[in-house]
Amino acid sequence: MLDNPHATPAPDNFDVTIDGVTVPLTQELLERYDVPGPRYTSYPTAPMWSDDFGAADARRVISASNETGAPLSLYMHLPFCERLCLFCGCNVIVSHKHDKAEPYLATLMRELELLADVVDTSRPVVQFHWGGGTPTYFTPEQLERLFTFTQERFTFADDAEIGVEIDPRVTTDEHLTMLRRVGFNRLSMGVQDFDPAVQEAIRRIQTVEQVGAMVERCRELGFDSVNLDLIYGLPLQTAAGFARTLEHVVALDPDRIAMFSYGHVPWIKKQQRVLTDLLPTHEEKFRIFRTGISHLTNAGYTYVGMDHFARPDDELCVAQRDGTLHRNFQGYTTKAGADLLGAGITSIGQIGHAYTQNRRDVDGWRAAIENDELPCFRGIELNDDDVIRQDAIGEILCHTALDKVEFGRRHGIDVDSYFAESLARLKPLADDGLVTLDDDAIRATPLGRIFLRNIAMAFDAYLDRPSDRPMFSRTL
Ligand SMILES: C[S@@+](CC[C@H](N)C(=O)[O-])C[C@H]1O[C@@H](n2cnc3c(N)ncnc32)[C@H](O)[C@@H]1O
Ligand code: SF4
Repeated sequence: MLDNPHATPAPDNFDVTIDGVTVPLTQELLERYDVPGPRYTSYPTAPMWSDDFGAADARRVISASNETGAPLSLYMHLPFCERLCLFCGCNVIVSHKHDKAEPYLATLMRELELLADVVDTSRPVVQFHWGGGTPTYFTPEQLERLFTFTQERFTFADDAEIGVEIDPRVTTDEHLTMLRRVGFNRLSMGVQDFDPAVQEAIRRIQTVEQVGAMVERCRELGFDSVNLDLIYGLPLQTAAGFARTLEHVVALDPDRIAMFSYGHVPWIKKQQRVLTDLLPTHEEKFRIFRTGISHLTNAGYTYVGMDHFARPDDELCVAQRDGTLHRNFQGYTTKAGADLLGAGITSIGQIGHAYTQNRRDVDGWRAAIENDELPCFRGIELNDDDVIRQDAIGEILCHTALDKVEFGRRHGIDVDSYFAESLARLKPLADDGLVTLDDDAIRATPLGRIFLRNIAMAFDAYLDRPSDRPMFSRTL
């Protein structure tokens, strides 16, 4: 850890405004609740899935889901990047030469055909997303070909959310124009931090002007929603420097902002090792976090929860107020009840009460597909208890409350007795003012919205296995 001479001295209390209520966020509270824990993009979490679940199971659950006629959400993983950013924790393949792109595309198209053979393709696609890696590593022509191929095999709803992750450094005007023309309406851009010293340390240089020009161009082209990704806890970052980054970001006026905690996992991502000695201290990381929350909420953004901020009139905030917000592997969404199909290496599916995951290596993924098999190598089918807990965690993360009567009716249980152990685990959080445990509901307080992961952990039946915890990053 670096003892940074420029680190900002901070008061013990830092006021943040959540839900219109100003609450003190203390250093002590952050320290107490900064424990290893899942991000709950799934429940049960990925380490609990089984290798016994394979291609035939994936085929069976997808086929059975046709009975429900539920809408579809489609995710495609486009893993390539030209250079590796040192902080990167994503599933990427680094290649300067673009010779692997075309064969990857051909296999992906074949996978889409296999999926289209199993799933009822008249089911409307209400959500579509290209993630990476960097999808705009592919040329505009390649991406258009892939999108057209997909549209020819699936039925897109008129109001489908169609989104893509872009890296401003490699995305051209031709990319943006093509994406908008074929129907993309959402963009997510990686920014991370604008401080030149931080950018140099993480080997990712991009200027405010460069990002600003791209945001402006997206608006001209008529994208409905632009999201910027930030990371707190990066090497050489300070609260004072991050405040300047936030000023630039707010001036760009994005619709949504994601502010992720830097996940430092050098035992998995070897290139991160050189960053270890440059990391801010724990205290400084918390200051950076508090600076982020207070700056963005003071600038008029609503803290939706779990790293995500949005303008109060954004549909995520509207859905949260209406109780229709939903969360899946792609994060928060207004598209509830859709079955998620994943394509490309490592991608995840969530179909009915099952999760599936694709092979992680290109060769294995391709071999399965060439054999006319879905390239699923692990997954899980939820039991009754998993389904109830998955729903409870979803209620906490999306609506920050669990209505005991409504929830009990939905699952045919008495919430107080079914979750007696969870309620006992929540007692210390209630004492710290993070939740209220009332007769009718379990509710996160405005302060507790910052600790939704910790609250959700009380409902997780798998966390008691001590060996499982180190698999997760820390909650803050
Ligand atoms: C696939 S990348 C985004 C698209 C594009 N490749 C880019 O970097 O601009 C998705 C986001 O994951 C986040 N990310 C990557 N590595 C991370 C890490 N180690 N910890 C926290 N967030 C990380 C970054 O904010 C990044 O923008
Ligand atoms: S461009 Fe994005 S996905 Fe690629 S290495 Fe950098 S952060 Fe990771």
